[in-house]
Amino acid sequence: MFFFKRKSRQTITDFSFLHTDIHSHLIPGIDDGARDMETALELVRGLRALGFKRLITTPHVLPEFYPNTKEIIVEGGQRLQEAVKMAGIEVEIGYAAEYFFDEKFGTLLEKDELLTLPKKHLLVEMSFFAAPPELEEYIFHLKIKGYQPILAHPERYLYLAKIAGKYERLRDMGCLFQLNLLSLIGYYGKPVQSNAELLLKNGWVEFFGTDCHHSQHIRLLESALAKGRFALPWPAVQNSALAES
Ligand SMILES: [Fe+2]
Repeated sequence: MFFFKRKSRQTITDFSFLHTDIHSHLIPGIDDGARDMETALELVRGLRALGFKRLITTPHVLPEFYPNTKEIIVEGGQRLQEAVKMAGIEVEIGYAAEYFFDEKFGTLLEKDELLTLPKKHLLVEMSFFAAPPELEEYIFHLKIKGYQPILAHPERYLYLAKIAGKYERLRDMGCLFQLNLLSLIGYYGKPVQSNAELLLKNGWVEFFGTDCHHSQHIRLLESALAKGRFALPWPAVQNSALAES
């Protein structure tokens, strides 16, 4: 059991209480997620079986490796919606993006060419090795422009944990945090798991996401649920607040 040690805890059997998964890579062929539509549909079925009723998929926008534009994502997202409908899978599909904070992000921000989650929430990520020098500047400008930045998997940036007060600083600036469910079962290693538990314990998690890239991610979550490795009470997460556009 990863987090609550109280006797009153209640093991959860699915993620339906979250309603919406706000982080995944399901649009075929445009990043390191689903490679084709058949695989994408398999992932959608798997996420539905985990209890999600809405999937807002978030392809990487990382100019060097995945130079996805708003148009590419919208086109791919609409194709996925159509395919899910044709396949008769009862789940709602939305699309946004996961923006990588590098020196090129500033141009996108300037042009206001960002594809957001509902209510102008914007999912962002950054290097796993070091924070970009522009990190605080980007968060500041996003807020000024009326966006609500959500930092994807903050627990995976172990360098942030090593800078005293850094998480608090980002939160004080208005950045929200989205934890990966897989972090809680040790998928990214023990240090990330401990960091995730600490963020939860501190009440610094607003959203959960699967960050699903392939079927192994789903199998691991299924098996962890079956083994009772996730337990209530959970913090007051806000995934449901992003259920409507
Ligand atoms: Fe991701």
